[in-house]
Amino acid sequence: MSAGGGAPAPAAEERTTMAATVVILDFGAQYSQLIARRAREAGVYSEILPHDTPWATIAERSPAAIILTGGPESTLEPDALGVDPAIYAAGVPILGICYGQQLIARDLGGRLVRSTHREFGPATLEVVAESPLTEGVESHTRAWMSHGDTVSEPPAGFVVLARTPACPVAALGDVSRRIYGVQFHPEVVHSEAGKRVIDNFLHSVAGIAPDWQMGSFVDRSIAEIRALVGDGRVICALSGGVDSAVAATLVARAIGERLTCIFVDTGLLRSGEGDAVLHAFRDVLHLNVLKIDARERFLARLAGVVDPEEKRIRIGHEFIAIFEEEAAKLPDVAWLVQGTLYPDVIESKTPDSKSGHKIKSHHNVGGLPEKMNLKLVEPLRKLFKDEVREAGRVLGLPEAIVERQPFPGPGLAVRVLGEVTAERLETVRAADFIVTNEIEAAPLARKPWQYFAVLTPLRSVGVMGDGRTYANLVAVRAISSEDGMTADWSRLPHELLERISTRIVNEVPGVNRVAYDITSKPPATVEWE
Ligand code: XMP
Repeated sequence: MSAGGGAPAPAAEERTTMAATVVILDFGAQYSQLIARRAREAGVYSEILPHDTPWATIAERSPAAIILTGGPESTLEPDALGVDPAIYAAGVPILGICYGQQLIARDLGGRLVRSTHREFGPATLEVVAESPLTEGVESHTRAWMSHGDTVSEPPAGFVVLARTPACPVAALGDVSRRIYGVQFHPEVVHSEAGKRVIDNFLHSVAGIAPDWQMGSFVDRSIAEIRALVGDGRVICALSGGVDSAVAATLVARAIGERLTCIFVDTGLLRSGEGDAVLHAFRDVLHLNVLKIDARERFLARLAGVVDPEEKRIRIGHEFIAIFEEEAAKLPDVAWLVQGTLYPDVIESKTPDSKSGHKIKSHHNVGGLPEKMNLKLVEPLRKLFKDEVREAGRVLGLPEAIVERQPFPGPGLAVRVLGEVTAERLETVRAADFIVTNEIEAAPLARKPWQYFAVLTPLRSVGVMGDGRTYANLVAVRAISSEDGMTADWSRLPHELLERISTRIVNEVPGVNRVAYDITSKPPATVEWE
């Protein structure tokens, strides 16, 4: 929870009711978030902080354990990234992973060597000494390695716990100081003993009980919102997506009628979506929802616009304008709910980690708090996406919302290529309804992660009955993905594709041809605009 945009860590007193925390010091590892996830799966609350966070700041969290991540650098470089040395003297159990193990060895007086060749991928891990960290790990298991340097001599007080054929110190530990290191990556699923090692570290070595549970998070969160907001009034933009739904429901449980949700019907929603969202929020969750019919306004703003970025920007601005107008009509609003998630909050020190080229202007309500002088309530800022879904279930949200597939903020406007008109929206909506319907009804072993129809600006020649047609081309997209960052096109059964194609051409006026998108991301993106 934070007051004010992007406020950093919660104050110490706010944390007194928190579950035991493992602090993960990040050296820019590819897998830092995965480590945080694994800890939470083990029932332990975890937070990622930059590697050079001063001990005083770490101590505010009363960490029950510290994990040092891997990283792309070498500890043997003169300006290698490090930690505040006070962490070693704090008596808190420490686990170093990859770079983290090497750092422990270097900082505490061991020796390292640069390897002539890097060790990547699977290796056979052999446990060579008993310890609380390796308890229950089979003597030979597969472990995932990804490193150049290696520890050649552990620091005084440490023993070698495991090795691989290429790495003589694949795990080390000082049992009395409760400081351990592993050269392999226990957080990746390819390391057979990975879960065991993480569980051992958290539960046996650090003695943390597995009590990070969604039910207690929800209760705590509601109490925190109440304390934060006091008797203030709060507004929230509902999109129908799971994040805003869970955030709004948590706030509503905390302050009831003092939360007003604003649901803007942009006219860019899918078939039946506006009514379903409204029904779920008003009748099932009993939220206080204002529905604003802005369909005409959005159509007017989009008239004549064909450039995808221009569409996205106009929709974003229009949304903010409407939201501001409506908020101004409500008396004494001081707070805005935002569905910010933990991955957006993590401050990584990795060079370039937050940069990268802008591919698309994503639409959200960012930008509102600065303009409107509102303070932020961000009840999800400690959660990963699947934890948000779990919180939604604990709160009793309908499954249709909890499991809703991602839908872009600019809605169907980016699925109507070229100019957006009422008629073309109707066409894509009807085609999308068929795609959704058929895929949901099909007995697939695994449903695609996302599926939808796109109305292209192309027309092609066809024949229907005895007549020539010259009509629209609809594309169907179905993908598998973990997080939308990368995606593969779904190998849907031909019969299913045939049913979709036949129904679209027969049932949607103005469409005479259907194509299936067989491009992955990269090089394509998920959406066509
Ligand atoms: P792209 O098209 O960038 O999409 O490969 C990746 C994922 O993000 C969704 N998407 C959006 N989500 N606001 C959102 O909240 C947006 O403006 C937006 N644009 C794309 C897309 O549906 C896919 O799941």
